[in-house]
Amino acid sequence: MTIGLEDGASLHPEMPPGMPSGVAAIDVAAERARTAGVTQRHYLNAAGAGLMSDAVLERTIRHLRLEQRIGGYAAATELADEVDGVYASAAALLGADADEIACFDTATTALRSIFDALRLGPGDTVIAPRSSYVSQALRLLTLRRHAGVRLDVVPNDATGAMDLTALDRALEQATGRVVVSAVHVPTSSGLVEPVAAIGALARDRGALTVLDATQSVGQIDIDVRQVACDALVTTGRKFLRGPRGTALAYLRRGALDGLGGWAPDVRGSAWTGAGEWTTDGTARQLETWEAAVATRLGLGVALREALDRGMAATESHLAGLGDRLRRALAATDGVALADPPAARSAIVTFTVAGLPGKEVARRLGEARIDTIAVPAGHAQWDLGARGLESVVRVSPHVYNDEADIEALLGAVAEIAAEAR
Ligand SMILES: Cc1ncc(COP(=O)(O)O)c(C=O)c1O
Repeated sequence: MTIGLEDGASLHPEMPPGMPSGVAAIDVAAERARTAGVTQRHYLNAAGAGLMSDAVLERTIRHLRLEQRIGGYAAATELADEVDGVYASAAALLGADADEIACFDTATTALRSIFDALRLGPGDTVIAPRSSYVSQALRLLTLRRHAGVRLDVVPNDATGAMDLTALDRALEQATGRVVVSAVHVPTSSGLVEPVAAIGALARDRGALTVLDATQSVGQIDIDVRQVACDALVTTGRKFLRGPRGTALAYLRRGALDGLGGWAPDVRGSAWTGAGEWTTDGTARQLETWEAAVATRLGLGVALREALDRGMAATESHLAGLGDRLRRALAATDGVALADPPAARSAIVTFTVAGLPGKEVARRLGEARIDTIAVPAGHAQWDLGARGLESVVRVSPHVYNDEADIEALLGAVAEIAAEAR
């Protein structure tokens, strides 16, 4: 199966343009063969929730069956090694150690848990990019309103990415304990923020970096040591293709500096006396005891599939798809690309003249093409600031083939022509 580029080159089986030599190509046919969902629709919403592979689904269901037969606690005990393997796989994917990984249900809870543990107060500073996601932006705004934390939202440079000079100035002027709430890829465009440079600047100025990699893990090869972040969160359901209700965090050993979680539970902490408790210092001190083991095991399969496929190959393939979609949509009459110049990811956003994003997504849905409209309310510092009420977001994954891409481009052209 091949995915043709506009210039006649192809993404598979030949190397896409720009792919570093030695990086394997993605076998789209094999990915499709193990993903039942591709037979139903032209599914282009990995940034909402990627399609699980059949193996991810099977692993999840098999554990629920075991829980039904022998009880949830006994089932978890029986699978303890495999559950540990989920942490090991996440660590391998992110370049971390297994004791620096914690599992959550959502990226939002993971971010909340990390920021709670940081115990920021009056006079402390959080520096955030315009690309911040709604739940994190609202969390930072409540910290400002209710905890007296200073919030500095850094402007973008001409490419639409965080302005590094402005970031350095913000770091220099920051007071108290300083945390950079960084974003890798936002919900609202294909932007890829310069996270390595952001992490390095923050570290040089003695600030912590908490990186929201919800839209990048599984899509972009990321190594937490190279990025120099102190914590990272991601969800399981998007480009990682895990089940909904799963998420992961990396917490650098020592990042909490003996603070421990804000709301300890039996995971990673022990209640040792009437008024005393200890924490083991691992990232698991941020977790709750209760968790959905079945979906966590499903996420483990998704992580192993991502590792087996290879993140360098996946990143190159998906960046190629994003690039192709961007070029084709920009050349479509009545369509305006909404991505900034620094867009390099598999997320592509656009608007259609005369039609709200939601209506475009609805009409695409009627043609069995799944995209989504992102409203300004999910990204006020980005879409709101750019005066965009909503954008249509397309996000392919390794299971998308030429027919999916052609179906989307054809339908968008038709919808735009009708709207004129
Ligand atoms: C960039 C970004 N960060 C955070 C989140 C929140 O993730 P979750 O819904 O798992 O809490 C999202 C969700 O779309 C997102 O796109």
